[in-house]
Amino acid sequence: MASIGQGVDRVDGRLKVTGRARYAAEFPISDLVHAVLVQSTIGAGTIAAVDMGAAQAMPGVLAIITPDNAPKLAMKGGAQQAVRAPLLQDNAVHFNGQHVAVVVAQTLVQANAAASQVRIRYRRDEPVTSMDAALAQAYPPKNFRNGERPPDSRRGDPDTAFDGAAAKVDVTYITPIEHHNPMEPHATIARWDGDRLTVWTATQGISGAQQSLAGLFGIAPQDVHIVCPFVGGGFGCKGNTWPPATLAAMAAKVVGRPVKLAVTRAQMFTSNGYRPRTVQKLRFAADDQGRLVSMRHDGFSQMSQPVLGEFSEPVGLATEMLYACPNVAVSHRLVATNASLPTYMRAPGLASGNFALESAIDELAVALKMDPLEFRLRNYAEQEPHQNKPFASKALRACYQQGAEAFGWSRRSAEPRSMRDGSVLIGWGMATSTYPTHRMPASAYVRLGADNSALVRVGTQDLGTGTYTVMSQIAANTLGVPVERIRFELGDSAFPHAPVSGGSMTVASVGPAVKAACEAARAKLQRDGGEVAEASVDVKPGEEEHRYAMHAFGAQFVEVRVDAELGEIRVSRFVGAFDAGRVMNAKTARSQLIGGIVYGLGMALLEETHVDGETGRIVNANIAEYLVPVNADVPDIQTIIVPNDELVSNPLGAKGIGELPMVGVAAAVANAVYNATGVRVRKVPIRIEDVLV
Ligand code: MOS
Repeated sequence: MASIGQGVDRVDGRLKVTGRARYAAEFPISDLVHAVLVQSTIGAGTIAAVDMGAAQAMPGVLAIITPDNAPKLAMKGGAQQAVRAPLLQDNAVHFNGQHVAVVVAQTLVQANAAASQVRIRYRRDEPVTSMDAALAQAYPPKNFRNGERPPDSRRGDPDTAFDGAAAKVDVTYITPIEHHNPMEPHATIARWDGDRLTVWTATQGISGAQQSLAGLFGIAPQDVHIVCPFVGGGFGCKGNTWPPATLAAMAAKVVGRPVKLAVTRAQMFTSNGYRPRTVQKLRFAADDQGRLVSMRHDGFSQMSQPVLGEFSEPVGLATEMLYACPNVAVSHRLVATNASLPTYMRAPGLASGNFALESAIDELAVALKMDPLEFRLRNYAEQEPHQNKPFASKALRACYQQGAEAFGWSRRSAEPRSMRDGSVLIGWGMATSTYPTHRMPASAYVRLGADNSALVRVGTQDLGTGTYTVMSQIAANTLGVPVERIRFELGDSAFPHAPVSGGSMTVASVGPAVKAACEAARAKLQRDGGEVAEASVDVKPGEEEHRYAMHAFGAQFVEVRVDAELGEIRVSRFVGAFDAGRVMNAKTARSQLIGGIVYGLGMALLEETHVDGETGRIVNANIAEYLVPVNADVPDIQTIIVPNDELVSNPLGAKGIGELPMVGVAAAVANAVYNATGVRVRKVPIRIEDVLV
């Protein structure tokens, strides 16, 4: 009966492969009409006039909503959490591609045709398109990590320690704008029934969407019903309630009919955030024994205009806690540009920050002539060095050992260009991964039958990560019944509250609620007898998060093959070993691990959003020119799950597995490229032209 940990097949797999899983754009709502976004063609300025004449007269057109005639939004309560602008509330244009009008028509074809005929006259300002040119105007974030901590931290005296050290690196790393590009673009169907709003939308957080839309439209949260049973991937870009969902609801109100607004692939580049470009300055130093004596990590990340909100990429988080170094300083600054608002993208902060951190650690190992794995082991943090707390658990040493063993790391030649296969240079690199273990309050409802069947409901989400399956396993395990006896339902704001599916925290947050509700229902049935017992419970994290530092860990090992004449870089082998705590499902976990590593390979070698310097327009807003890894780019990936039975972090011992596997991949690849070629590339993606020097 015990199914936790086993590779149970996805309970929703059949629905998905037969096309019966219904995504936001696919709900058959009667009387439905279609909305299309019109986007700005300038990078900064104001709208002087909108000429809708020709468009208004076109067949099927029901409304053209512009800043001149758009309903005013209430912007109350939960709207503070929403992305407030740009929502057609004023004439300002803050970035190229900003939504400046919405056309509603009977059919999608009619709406698109009319949208192409809306003529907008602008008063143009000069856009700031380059973060690097505006670095001198960097400013500290106002609300770093939601105000939980200041943007800067320091322990010891890193500058004095640096000056007197035996080995030093003083380097700048750069990461580009990246876009999430889940398979399913954003889509929303909105319908008003009087003052009640129903929204079918692709979201990582139905509770957040409910709160945000209620605040924006000035109605009670219970009058907003969010429905989202399936999500075709998110990676962070469906975490906020972005303008298209709000504009769909606004359009439905204007025309008095249900409205569908499906964002196009191109609009995915300007409608729902991105991983901001970062410039990171690192000064690391070690003594002649290979002990880190100084680490300084100053991070700058790209922002939109501040009026649109705030997001800072927390690149220094791992630098604070990963190594036992007595003198450490990190800082975070923002650089405003005429771009849309950035947001979290798979492993926010850690993905970008760890590329710089784990590359610079490799550089220091090279300077010391020390094996980079040995260097990391010499600086292993037995307890969390920044807060001086014990780790709830840390099996990183086992990750290093098992990963190195599986990869054959001991056979590595440290000398660049020394491993060859004919004209191909071979390089081996490694890096550490880490991601914090988060948990938030969650609730669950269970109806347990005397026949051992159970209905479990939580207002959580399944992004394709396996929530349906894993929660069914947790319920089945708790009740001691086969998984087939569980019916787990999610994706409806009428169900008990759960947090956003982000920060790798769904199992740690929702799992304990499901477990507790199942226990409560079983106790009731045993006590009272009868055919059925119901239970609803709320659970929240306890004292443990104050007493312990909670993090997942991993070790990434990669082999690259670089053509000595052509500079072409191929990844030929990959081993990742991970301590993600207790694993709920070996099969979905392996999928997450492989998926994260592939995401990391994209960051290392392919992904980059290009912005035109004149206009601020994104020039590769499509997945032909925004490159992501395809099967031919991905080698055999070996994933190792290092056992860890700790139950301190949360009642299930799950430390989070969604973001961990992508952290460190880019650094491992860059370190392997150095080992192959002798060229240290301090930016991603690493391209042919970077190694042909
Ligand atoms: Mo994840 S970037 O926290 O959705």
